[in-house]
Amino acid sequence: ARLVVLVSGSGTNLQALLDAIGDNPAGYGATVVAVGADRDAIAGLERAERAGLPTFVRRVKDYGTRAEWDAALTDATAAYAPDLVISAGFMKIVGKEFLARFGGRTVNTHPALLPSFPGAHGVRDALAYGAKVTGCTVHFVDDGVDTGPIIAQGVVEVRDEDDEDALHERIKEVERRLLVEVVGRLARHGYRIEGRKVTIQ
Ligand code: GRF
Repeated sequence: ARLVVLVSGSGTNLQALLDAIGDNPAGYGATVVAVGADRDAIAGLERAERAGLPTFVRRVKDYGTRAEWDAALTDATAAYAPDLVISAGFMKIVGKEFLARFGGRTVNTHPALLPSFPGAHGVRDALAYGAKVTGCTVHFVDDGVDTGPIIAQGVVEVRDEDDEDALHERIKEVERRLLVEVVGRLARHGYRIEGRKVTIQ
């Protein structure tokens, strides 16, 4: 399967996919063909460049409307003919045009146990709420915010001494492994989405 990975930050989830694919894309069942971002000068893009991958950046502020940005992101992604789009720390909500083109084959990873703590501050919100366990969710993207059908989740305990960064780092250790495992299975075995139920063949 051809993967386009979308990033907005450090790109450690991207790196985990690149490391898993390594020199055996056939074994893993997928290869990253391009990396897209909503901003410049992030480590995620440097990781892509170090791996010799094509990259593209589409910044919301460069477009008159959100819909124009969404169309530009869609076209830039479609240029690489992905089978799956992986939103790995991508911090923008994709719009109607993107979903019309890639809905049902866009996977997102979120650092909380959805439906708890959706949105851009899932780790901070779980900590502030006093949750005793949190974790990460890998799900298909739908037209909501972190609301699409769940594929897999991983649980991470919250420790009394945790601050947001410490907890997020511990979540990311689980998240990277979960994302690599899920993407490989989706790519190798194919899948069906029926309502909120995801079946991997
Ligand atoms: C991940 O925990 C992702 O779920 C969240 O931000 C983090 C991105 O990490 N949205 P990275 O850019 O993959 O290192």
